Amino acid sequence: MTLSKEFRKKAPKERLDELASEAKLTEEEKALLAKESALDLETANRMIENVVSTFPLPFGVVPGFKVNGIERLVPMAVEEPSVVAASANAAKLSEGFTSEASEPVMIGQIQLLGVKDVPKAIEAIEAKKKELVAKANEKDRMLISRGGGAKGIECRHLKSKRGDMLIVHLLVNVQDAMGANTINTMCEILSPELEKLSGGKVRLRIISNLAVHRTVKAKTVWTKEALEESTKGAFKGSEVVGAVLDAYAFAEADPYRACTHNKGAMNGIDAVLIATGNDWRAVEAGAHAFASLSGEYKPLTKYYKNEKGDLVGEIELPMAIGIVGGATKTHPLAKIALKIMGVTKASELAEIIAAVGLTQNFAALRALATEGIQRGHMRLHAKNIAVMAGAHGKEIEEIADKMAGEKNVSVQRAKELLGSK
Ligand code: MEV
Repeated sequence: MTLSKEFRKKAPKERLDELASEAKLTEEEKALLAKESALDLETANRMIENVVSTFPLPFGVVPGFKVNGIERLVPMAVEEPSVVAASANAAKLSEGFTSEASEPVMIGQIQLLGVKDVPKAIEAIEAKKKELVAKANEKDRMLISRGGGAKGIECRHLKSKRGDMLIVHLLVNVQDAMGANTINTMCEILSPELEKLSGGKVRLRIISNLAVHRTVKAKTVWTKEALEESTKGAFKGSEVVGAVLDAYAFAEADPYRACTHNKGAMNGIDAVLIATGNDWRAVEAGAHAFASLSGEYKPLTKYYKNEKGDLVGEIELPMAIGIVGGATKTHPLAKIALKIMGVTKASELAEIIAAVGLTQNFAALRALATEGIQRGHMRLHAKNIAVMAGAHGKEIEEIADKMAGEKNVSVQRAKELLGSK
């Protein structure tokens, strides 16, 4: 199967015609792809290449999410059942979150090769730091006027399998942007000067997604009383606290578990990032690299018992996100998502997102360490299975309830139940 050379240049509708005929799509399949969504085709076509359609996801809202004393509504775009409910429940059980984002300082990396004397070149660059920072700031007056801009330069001597390298880190306060464009442009502007100062040749000039200077921390307390109540008395509060601490200790000691532990936190983080049009791959990459900074892959969250025996949860991770530029401004739903949240600064958004990550992780640990995760997942999963088996309207709930009650959720069982109706 292949597409014509002209495919790229066609309008989305013409591309769809060609694709449908090449991939032998049925009229129904083609009609589904042709259906317009909230993201109109013209906008989508300006966002990426070879657009034929748009891809909707469920868009849900977490109510009553209290961060730094302000109650927020948190939109999430996610395909996984239970993510929205988990954040809603964990937030309701908590005492609200305190959350603090650091200054939005991102790193741009400039790779210099063939530098004869790296320590000497570092000295030369260090001596011209002020001038280099000023040069990086020449182009972006807007950013400077809002308190942002290049702030510093750091040099690193790397020993690689292709020889020594001088890596220059340009530190830039990007304010409310994610920052990739600003940083990449500044790195390109500085390159000729850095080549002169080092006698080397510039290769890569690019943002680092390991945004160690742009982090966010969130914290909350789940009282043992609230935890006990949440299990409807099936477990004592102190047992739930202990169970979550066991789960956390497992993740602390084992990268196989830490990976899944962090995936749970990212379930919520990514959902908000997607809803707000942010680059979730950048945050994912940053989060996992941050989790490995000690040389071992570790959980992004921490849990401990306070003096009252309540459970304290904390999370810390890099959060390179924006509320200006990119899809945050072009995707019509992203703009609405930001309005729903009522955020006016990227740091506020980061603070909410970190708290969301903490709720997701906590909810997963609490469920896994007590009744097990499947019970909560079962009903939504059962509904999807019922639909797959051909259930419609009210049948979906009926069949899902029956299968969940029987703890026998399968397409085969759903078909049997449908057949006997
Ligand atoms: C599933 O998407 C996420 C969990 O696996 C997270 C965890 O195990 O902590 C439930």
